[in-house]
Amino acid sequence: MYSSSIFEGNFYDFFEQEPQRAPIGIFDSGVGGLTVLRQLYRQLPNESIVYFGDTARLPYGIRSQTEILQFTREILTWLQQQQVKMVIMACNTSSALALETVRQEFNIPILGVILPGAKAAVQQGKRIGVIATPATAKSNAYRQAILEIDPEVQVWQVSCPEFVPLIEQNRIYDPYTTEVARAYLEPLLQQEIDTLVHGCTHYPLLTPVLRSLLPASVKLVDPAVHVVTACTQELDLLSLRNTHPPLPTRFAVSGCSQQFAQSGLQWLGYTPLVEEVCFTGTTVS
Ligand code: DGL
Repeated sequence: MYSSSIFEGNFYDFFEQEPQRAPIGIFDSGVGGLTVLRQLYRQLPNESIVYFGDTARLPYGIRSQTEILQFTREILTWLQQQQVKMVIMACNTSSALALETVRQEFNIPILGVILPGAKAAVQQGKRIGVIATPATAKSNAYRQAILEIDPEVQVWQVSCPEFVPLIEQNRIYDPYTTEVARAYLEPLLQQEIDTLVHGCTHYPLLTPVLRSLLPASVKLVDPAVHVVTACTQELDLLSLRNTHPPLPTRFAVSGCSQQFAQSGLQWLGYTPLVEEVCFTGTTVS
């Protein structure tokens, strides 16, 4: 059974009596979901949050649909055990390949990033580029979502397999990363895109690099901003918004907690306390 130094005693009973005070669960394969977490802090400062990063099994973007579905089910089961009131699937790859299935299986509101990102993209432009993991690009989830909203726009998707490993290794400002980004953006620049969607939660961390390669007129869409707006609406609809001060964010990973804590310092501005979890039901540390 999972144990935590942060959630002591009878908090779980407490959530049952006051579901508004229960945390929002958020997950990604790694640090990418921190871009969504930062938006949660900005837009919903009263919410308590449980963050899970599946760092032992990233990158998700080169996994099969069967694997993604299995990982997603395991994470959702764990988050449900933590008594979250809602889940934000911060991972685009899971949102593209598993969201529809797990929504039928879990009795909890689950928000994905693709629809909010697609809605925001069509409000920005007509020639839309999407950069994404190989699995998300192959799924065509963004193209379908965008064209369903506006069949008149044009969409080009590029698979970017090298980005997530480079970001997780903290090599954002490595000249090699700029060269990789230049190659990925080239076909989109040839199409004269006016809008670029970050089709992976890791990619907003690359914004300075991407900005240096794109014309200033190209608008960047970060679905993290818009999924949190959707989350706010959903919480209001379900009367689940917390008005009390939040609990400290709880972080858990399947891989090395120390490595994640270091990244946390860089992207959040504080060093998080990170727990290690494995899905046999035990806490490693
Ligand atoms: N950050 C995730 C996404 O949004 C997954 C990246 C990966 O692990 O490949 O797709």
